[in-house]
Amino acid sequence: MSIIVTPLSDALGAAVTGIDLSQPVNEQTLSDIKQAWYEHVILVFPNQDISDEEQENFCLNFGELERVRTIDAGSETPHVMMITNVKELDKPTALPDGEMMFHYDQCYYEQPCMGATLYAIEIPDVGGNTLFANCTKAYEALSHDWKQRLDGLRALNYYDYGLTPTMRPEEMNPDVPQWTHPVVRTHSETGRKAIYVSRLMSMRIEGLPEEESNEILNFLFDQMEKPEYIYEHVWSKGDLMMWDNRCSVHARTHFSPNARRMMRRVTVRDPKPVAA
Ligand SMILES: [Fe+2]
Repeated sequence: MSIIVTPLSDALGAAVTGIDLSQPVNEQTLSDIKQAWYEHVILVFPNQDISDEEQENFCLNFGELERVRTIDAGSETPHVMMITNVKELDKPTALPDGEMMFHYDQCYYEQPCMGATLYAIEIPDVGGNTLFANCTKAYEALSHDWKQRLDGLRALNYYDYGLTPTMRPEEMNPDVPQWTHPVVRTHSETGRKAIYVSRLMSMRIEGLPEEESNEILNFLFDQMEKPEYIYEHVWSKGDLMMWDNRCSVHARTHFSPNARRMMRRVTVRDPKPVAA
């Protein structure tokens, strides 16, 4: 049986049906999924019913699993992170309530993950949607002059989990994870370039006066967040979402702190370094 790939928007995203992710994926199907992933950047597999282990097994088709870096080495489920506001769980959890600005996951580390999967277990009736932006299209639409101006630039990426996810910090804490990456990144599989900064986590461009750094960053944030590059996903229970963390940013819309939202995340390591 072959999969059916249905685009979700002009910006990015496709729904993949005709597959049960609780079962092993054969070679031809995996090749079709990878092709769809590179073309559409994010894939959603609706109506799935999968365990922790089945989600891990699906991710293993794409590479090694990334350990959750913020938890104890002795965890029994070192690759599973619950993204939830539900407190009474026996697994590591993350993320504050409500809205979160656009970001790349783990871009404040030397080696951010290649991609991530998020499985919807409980969702609020309203809000808590995830917006994805296609940073390849946002880059390719830039003028020749802008592309030249960005060539060779590097930005410092930083995120302090103790601060609000809707505001850039005034001052940076040297103890918080941070790493400098190229402002424009080349995808290791497709060879296409993407804008590799984000409003939540990119603080400044190396070696430039503050004013010029801010001018460039704000221009890029506005460029990548234009409506024509964005798809907003309204979750349904049983959705398994998979995004390419090398060329797309994501953000979350507000939801009531009284509503339960529970997602299970498993991420895939990127064996290749971030390259301009
Ligand atoms: Fe994220």
